Amino acid sequence: MDARSYSVQERLRDGESIRIRAIRPEDKQGLSDLFFRLSPETIYYRFLGAKRRLTRDELVYLTELDFRRQVAIVAVLAKGDEERLIGVGRYAIPPGRPQTRAEVALTVEDAEQGRGIGKLLFEHLTRIAHGQGILEFEAYVFAENTRMIALFDRSGRVTRRSIERGVCQLLISTSPTPPP
Ligand SMILES: CC(C)(COP(=O)(O)OP(=O)(O)OC[C@H]1O[C@@H](n2cnc3c(N)ncnc32)[C@H](O)[C@@H]1OP(=O)(O)O)[C@@H](O)C(=O)NCCC(=O)NCCS
Repeated sequence: MDARSYSVQERLRDGESIRIRAIRPEDKQGLSDLFFRLSPETIYYRFLGAKRRLTRDELVYLTELDFRRQVAIVAVLAKGDEERLIGVGRYAIPPGRPQTRAEVALTVEDAEQGRGIGKLLFEHLTRIAHGQGILEFEAYVFAENTRMIALFDRSGRVTRRSIERGVCQLLISTSPTPPP
């Protein structure tokens, strides 16, 4: 599977159609616009701290990926020729770490949360990761971030969890048949 050209059409529970596709270098503006629509709470949960904007270097880092060690997909709503990025899922293998484990993170725009978009992004990322030889994800989530933890738990893929200083570390299997 070529993760760089990944693109699928999906339907949300409420019937609206969205596209899930690989992020592109041309998404910098869309990603920056998405960031400015996020609430401080969503930013805090995603970045494990406060953040006011994405710098140019961060936008390069987040959109210009090798699609081997770093992969990102976006959820996109299309109106005519106009696309609006409403969610992002990404994983990256931390430098110097085994090729079989990647850190995963998800973000969905506040106004679009609770529609099943996070779950879809996670399912597609898991599929891509498994196809690239990644056996497990690790995720770092504030312990009070029940929505994110519930999403991972409901996938039935969590194999281990620990909490240190209010941050929950989860290990998540990417196997198509998650462990019992
Ligand atoms: C966490 C996040 C990505 C989830 O995205 P989402 O699109 O809102 O999630 P979904 O609508 O797909 O919901 C998925 C699951 O979350 C759970 N969930 C949804 N709303 C919930 C709520 N209000 N409380 C608790 N759990 C909830 C449910 O288990 C749901 O599963 P279901 O669809 O089988 O009922 C999104 O809320 C977000 O961007 N949060 C801020 C950023 C963040 O926390 N990132 C995590 C860093 S790793």
